[in-house]
Amino acid sequence: MPGHFITFEGGEGAGKSTQIARLKVYLESLGQSVLVTREPGGSPGAEKIRALLLSGEVRDLGPRGEAMLFAAARADHVDTTIKPALEQGQWVLCDRYADSTRVYQGEAGVDTDYLKLLETAAVAGVRPELTILIDIPAEIGLKRVASRAQTDDSGGPDRFEGEALKVHERRRRLFIELARQEAFRFAVVDGTKDPEYVATAIRKAISDRFADELNIADEQQPAAREGAH
Ligand code: TYD
Repeated sequence: MPGHFITFEGGEGAGKSTQIARLKVYLESLGQSVLVTREPGGSPGAEKIRALLLSGEVRDLGPRGEAMLFAAARADHVDTTIKPALEQGQWVLCDRYADSTRVYQGEAGVDTDYLKLLETAAVAGVRPELTILIDIPAEIGLKRVASRAQTDDSGGPDRFEGEALKVHERRRRLFIELARQEAFRFAVVDGTKDPEYVATAIRKAISDRFADELNIADEQQPAAREGAH
């Protein structure tokens, strides 16, 4: 497909949405067309499932049932939002994707093979070329979420934010392990640093991978230019 699919992953309060917004501005400044989307959600059908999942209303289904709902939302999101945008040549920046299911529902005890089957069915071959993992200790991320909740009217932690610190820390370790296993598509960025630093690190990951098509090779890679002589 002519477009590019980039996903963002990380624990609560990692700063994904801020960084996605910044990357969108950067790519647009290079003349690219960008679609920002998120999971669960990102399409009218999937947003309905999101509301059920995050309210905790379907918690009784258990982790296996919840995993199925995340997959159902993803299938609709892929079919109606992500795939059409990629076919049109857009850059799709997605806040969470299949790795979140592997980590969150995996941590909750859902069998890995079952999750793989669901993932294969849901993504229908649409996999990210690059996944930015914004890594942050759970304690710091949760503090950020708590202070954000005081300044907006988001109504307290959602179904997944409200879990114990050790659960968040286990998810963090699972993300890092996944990034190690699939290093070919992951870039891990230190989310404890200031937003400017994180944004620069993300742009570097983008230019490492897409320099040619973004026409930024000379600007971003002086070492490579010197090596060419
Ligand atoms: P959201 O408000 O989008 O959180 P965040 O800002 O941290 O991305 O809520 C999404 C929540 O759903 C988040 O806690 C992670 C969880 N989640 C899963 O458990 N499985 C999934 O497959 C996805 C996409 C999200």
